Amino acid sequence: MRHIAVLPCDGAGKEVVPEAIKVLRAAGADFEFEEFDVNADSYLRTGVAISDEVWRQVSEADSILFGAVGDPRLPDAKYLAGVLLRLRFELDLYVNLRPAKLYDDRLSPLRREDRRRVDLMIVRENTEGLYVGMGGRFKQGTDDEVAIQEDVNTHLGVTRIIEHAFGIAQREVVMVDKSNAMTFAGGLWQDRWKAVAAGHPKVKTRHLYVDAASMQLVKDPSQFDVIVTGNLFGDILSDLTAELIGGMGIAPSANIDPASGRGLFEPVHGTAPDIAGKGLVNPVGAILSASMMVKHLGDPHMADAIEGAVESAIRAGECTRDIGGALSTSQAGDAIVKRLR
Ligand code: NAI
Ligand code: MG
Repeated sequence: MRHIAVLPCDGAGKEVVPEAIKVLRAAGADFEFEEFDVNADSYLRTGVAISDEVWRQVSEADSILFGAVGDPRLPDAKYLAGVLLRLRFELDLYVNLRPAKLYDDRLSPLRREDRRRVDLMIVRENTEGLYVGMGGRFKQGTDDEVAIQEDVNTHLGVTRIIEHAFGIAQREVVMVDKSNAMTFAGGLWQDRWKAVAAGHPKVKTRHLYVDAASMQLVKDPSQFDVIVTGNLFGDILSDLTAELIGGMGIAPSANIDPASGRGLFEPVHGTAPDIAGKGLVNPVGAILSASMMVKHLGDPHMADAIEGAVESAIRAGECTRDIGGALSTSQAGDAIVKRLR
């Protein structure tokens, strides 16, 4: 039996993760779930984001099912860094997969029917770039203040994420950077991109600057298969693709270390403080993240069954308000469970 560490954390995370577990149980997953008390309340009480004991248990689990972190009482980045960034960085979950697939036509904001087909994967570098927290503020608070945020890109980090993108591409890999303006980091990405591409002659390749990529994603998202990019651009582009498929409520993600097999699976959205606690939160992003976890743990058939149940519930309009339904969070979970029985 697989041991799954469950970290719902805060806000919407606490509402969507139980729905994902409900669906996994209905799909017949042979998992033992263990929930950990990692959240803003415990952080405010103890001053510790994740205790050593919890860290040991979570890092030894077969996989981590994660909700969302954040709390209005903790506006600085320390708490987020102590939970999600620590898990991603210290467990070396360097691949961040953010698929975008349109499950029903009515969810697309694009008008041209032939361009509405969206089924792409963003492969985001998850452990480097501008998110490493290097830099500082000089003469802080004065009119002479200088703030520096370093963009860290390594030969190993860039190579392995591009390799991963080629490993999962069916048609084409598009590499996205801003190498015309950010020439040092972009130069390394370009060099590694060409070197890795040379080893995969059967996969088509294309390069786009991030501004052009944003434009193309809105103009005709059906052209994309796999996009590989750095930490910041991947974060931003995946919010754009989330909107293309119906919004933040349904976009899933996987954070994985292909070498060790470790993984953390979470919806793309945050804690949704504007709608949290009212039964309005869409559980689909968390449920599709759970389906990615099942696939990662070696059961593609069960993953497909869960995704199929989600697609059928969405098409039938048995979903939450943000995607045009009238159901509560847990009713929307039930509508998916019903299709698995
Ligand atoms: P957010 O993703 O929480 O919300 C953005 C918008 O999407 C809101 O209008 C919200 O109502 C909507 N939304 C989000 N999830 C939804 C769902 N499941 N169903 C329906 N609608 C949904 O991002 P925001 O507002 O920028 O951040 C709120 C808090 O979440 C902050 O504390 C932030 O730091 C944290 N956060 C955490 C993340 C994580 O744990 N991975 C990711 C993004 C934000
Ligand atoms: Mg984001």
